[in-house]
This record gives sequence, structure tokens and C-alpha cells, in this order.
Amino acid sequence: MRVLVTGHQGYLGTVMVPILQEAGHDVVGLDSGFFADCVLGPAPKDPPSLQIDLRDVTVAQLVGFDAVIHLAALSNDPLGALAPQITYDINHHASVRLAKLAKQAGVRRFLYASTCSVYGSAGDELVTESAPLKPLTPYAESKVRVEDDVAAIADDGFSPAFLRNATAFGFSPRLRADIVLNNLVGHAVLTGDVRVLSDGTPWRPLVHARDIARAFLICLRAPTHKIHCAAYNVGTEQNNLTVAEIAEAVVDVVPNSTLLITGESGPDPRSYRVDFSAIREALGYEAAWSIPDGAAELFKEYTSAGLTSDAFFKRFTRLPHLESLQRAGILDESMRRIDSSVG
Ligand SMILES: NC(=O)c1ccc[n+]([C@@H]2O[C@H](COP(=O)([O-])OP(=O)(O)OC[C@H]3O[C@@H](n4cnc5c(N)ncnc54)[C@H](O)[C@@H]3O)[C@@H](O)[C@H]2O)c1
Repeated sequence: MRVLVTGHQGYLGTVMVPILQEAGHDVVGLDSGFFADCVLGPAPKDPPSLQIDLRDVTVAQLVGFDAVIHLAALSNDPLGALAPQITYDINHHASVRLAKLAKQAGVRRFLYASTCSVYGSAGDELVTESAPLKPLTPYAESKVRVEDDVAAIADDGFSPAFLRNATAFGFSPRLRADIVLNNLVGHAVLTGDVRVLSDGTPWRPLVHARDIARAFLICLRAPTHKIHCAAYNVGTEQNNLTVAEIAEAVVDVVPNSTLLITGESGPDPRSYRVDFSAIREALGYEAAWSIPDGAAELFKEYTSAGLTSDAFFKRFTRLPHLESLQRAGILDESMRRIDSSVG
């Protein structure tokens, strides 16, 4: 298949593209390159790409693709809280516009990177895809709006699917330090402390970046009736842990590290335990990576690449990196690139 992957230069996209290529797909990327230079270890080999802002994509640029995998977004809650309107512009409006243009261009399959955080505050019971959605942040709200608006344009020729990914973990050449396991392992390697800022009680389902990539690959190939307008939670029940349990797994992996639950950020209402049986039963998908294996992988990669505090807390953390691009005059206040070569 000829596949357009938006956000291909992000944390997940950089892991996903080679997996799609190895499976025989002809991949083209689309990214404005916010994190293109945020690389740990050897530089990844990017596919041919459209170096444009998602908000500017045209129907002509989408002609000829069999499928779109849509990852590009302002990808976490702190970014959404800093600039809710920009989060809605990019994550909601530009995503729905992309889906409409893709449909107009004759693209038949649209796989969207949604999130389990759409469940918000869901208590201790396992939530399935039919549970009420209770997004607690602009980021999560933007994901719900895209699911609703894109489902509304589905028809016989256009099949969207919504992959509600658990929080990702694991090494990517374009690392993200602001997701829980990657953060806790990095903190432990750099300071000796496994530092939990909440009280540690919220549930957080986790899934490895490569397992997310495999879920998208399976949805690319699946019979249309199995993915048409479907929402699937992506992850495994084994990785439904509390933040404190995740932190304990890190202590087990990083030598001489100590667990510190500071509670300084106050209670975190975002808490959900997720049921992943729908994707298992419909598509035979199983997430393979456990949290201890992911922590061990991260420990090995961080130490062999010589991770520094400066890189970890600034370059690989989404919010401070974007703020530094704004201060440097590379991005304007609406997160558009100021140079004339992009966007
Ligand atoms: N990483 C996770 O834990 C996780 C979990 C659930 C869902 N998701 C979703 O998966 C997707 C990818 O996540 P990620 O962790 O790789 O995020 P990321 O921040 O690493 O990557 C996002 C990519 O989108 C690009 N982008 C952002 N705005 C753009 C714009 N206006 N035009 C063009 N490109 C733009 C960025 O340059 C970046 O390369 C996101 O939609 C995210 O919400 C991620």
C-alpha cells in the first residue's frame, strides 16, 4: 500500500515508519519537523516526505495514497494546557480537515492515533471502548472531537478507525522524555531517584512504541468491515499498573536507584484501567512488551548513548523544546515555522 504517515518525525512515527516499510508498504511522511533534530544515538533514516504544516495540506498532496496514518499533533496534556486554542486548531480542526481532504482525494482508509486518556477519570473498573468518554484536558477533548467528526464522514469508500493507544514507552531514536516510563528511567539514570510527582495512585495503562506500530500495521491490512468506524484500545491488561507500581519496576532495573513519591504535583484525576479484548478478538492483536522489559531497554539505550540532563529535560521534553523554538524565532506563537522553507 502507498501510505501517508503524518507526524513521521515524532517519537512514535520514527519507530513506526521502518516497521511499515519492512512489511512492504511504500511510506511517505508529513511533518513540520518540530523534533526532527531531537535524536538520541544514530540518526534515523526518514522516508520521502512533505515538509509542511498539517494545517496547510492540500487535496492534491493526498491523491494517490491508499491510506493515511494520522499521528501529527501537539501530543500531550502540558502542551494542551499551555495553548488550548492551538491544540484545538492542530489536533482537532486540522485533523478533521485532513480526513475530509483525504476522502476527497480517494484515500480509502484513515487510521487515527487517539488515546486511552479519552476515558479521563474512570475508577478501578476495566473500561471498554463503549465506556463513557470523560476527557479531562484540551488534549484529550481534541481526540474525542476528532473521533466524532471523522466518524461522521465515513462511507462505503472511506473507512476511518480510531486507535486509542495506551501511554507509550520504549526507545525511539526521537526520544520523548515526558511519558511516564521513559521519564522515570531517565530520572533514575541521571539522578539516582525514581521520582513520582503525583501520589502514585492513578492507573496508567502502558504500551511499547513498537507494539503501537504493529497495531497500525494490522489495521492497514485488516478486512474493511473489521476496522470501518471502529475504535480499538491498544495495549495489554498486563500493563495496567498504577504510577507507583511503574516506578517500582524502574527501581528494579536501575542499579542503586531509590523510589521517591513526592506528591508535589497534587492529586492527578487522570486514572483509567483499560480492557484490550476488542482488538485481541477482532484482529488477533497482542501487545508483546512488558514494563520491566521496556525499562531494561531504556536503561541500556540511555546509558550507551550517554544521555545528559540537558538533553533529557529540555530537548527530549516536548513543552520546553517547543518554547525554545519559539524563543529562537523558529516557531511563532501559533506553532507555525517562521522560515520560508516550511509551511
Ligand atoms: N506517545 C504516547 O504516549 C501516545 C499515546 C496515545 C496517543 N498518542 C498520539 O500519537 C500521536 C504521536 O505521538 P508522539 O508521541 O509520536 O508525539 P510527538 O510529539 O513525538 O510527535 C508528533 C509529531 O507531529 C508533528 N506535528 C505537530 N504539529 C504539527 C503540524 N501542525 N504540522 C505538521 N506536523 C506537526 C511534530 O513535528 C511531531 O513530529 C499523537 O497524535 C499523540 O496524541 C501518543
